[in-house]
Amino acid sequence: MCSSDDIKTVVFPVAGLGSRFLPATKIVAKELLPILDKPLIDYAVCEAKKAGIERFIFINSPNKQSITNYFKKNKNLESELKDKKSEHLELISKNLISENNLIEVIQDKPLGLGHAIWCARKYISGPFAVMLPDDLIISGVPCIKQLIKAYKNFKSNVVAIQEVDENNINKYGVIDYYKNESNTYHIKDMIEKPDKKNAPSNLAIIGRYILNPSIIKELSNHELGAGGEIQLTDAIKKLIINENVIGYKFEGNRFDCGNVIGALNAQLSIAMNDDKYKSQIKEIIKNLSKE
Ligand code: UTP
Repeated sequence: MCSSDDIKTVVFPVAGLGSRFLPATKIVAKELLPILDKPLIDYAVCEAKKAGIERFIFINSPNKQSITNYFKKNKNLESELKDKKSEHLELISKNLISENNLIEVIQDKPLGLGHAIWCARKYISGPFAVMLPDDLIISGVPCIKQLIKAYKNFKSNVVAIQEVDENNINKYGVIDYYKNESNTYHIKDMIEKPDKKNAPSNLAIIGRYILNPSIIKELSNHELGAGGEIQLTDAIKKLIINENVIGYKFEGNRFDCGNVIGALNAQLSIAMNDDKYKSQIKEIIKNLSKE
């Protein structure tokens, strides 16, 4: 039986425009762009599965339904590969999500991350995880599992945090804290996309969260924040009045795959650690650096 603080549900907001990858994202969802041989979203789903998550809610745009199709059976491809006795058959079945556990909610317009999470309200009854697939995190213990552990220890909302360079701080939600013990920061405030001079710390919120269902109420007034979007950070900030929110400095390497250079960095770094590609990539890099 599940205890009340078991985290079995994740929300994946995937309805954004992906403008930093245009023109590719005119036709392919950013979340489906491959990192080696797997789409970006597959890394996040694998991370969630390894953390014991069973129910997957995708907040999707009407044009990006190939994202959820990726996790469903493709009977035609399966039978073609079977007929050919292809060694690749198992590759298309290991990433499936069962029909009962895959929920798709359409966000008609990309009004912001906060609005995307609010779109899941009908399916939220207890604490849940939020994972932004743009943040690809490679770690021994899956990042979201580290956050679930912190949630259970502190009985508080948890956001993943990481130190970032001050020149990049204006791209993130940034925390202010009143106390810290090892990896845990007790948050007193947070600011979305502050200027370098107004940033309360160099600790930025990364795309992994464990939230109490009370966040839905905070999101329901659809207040516009930075960039004219409904921001999740603003709603979490309001939660702090009545609830504890912990910032957890996770262990692992994070790649920001929401932009071209970050995704390229992920490609190269992951390939360099993969026996299948390592030696060829090293050779390519060696040759390129001679030029
Ligand atoms: P981003 O802001 O990084 O993604 O949102 P984006 O808007 O798609 O990218 P750019 O800025 O135009 O290049 C982080 C995550 O939240 C989702 C995105 O799909 C992405 O996975 N998102 C964002 C939504 O689902 N709905 C929104 O209204 C905004």
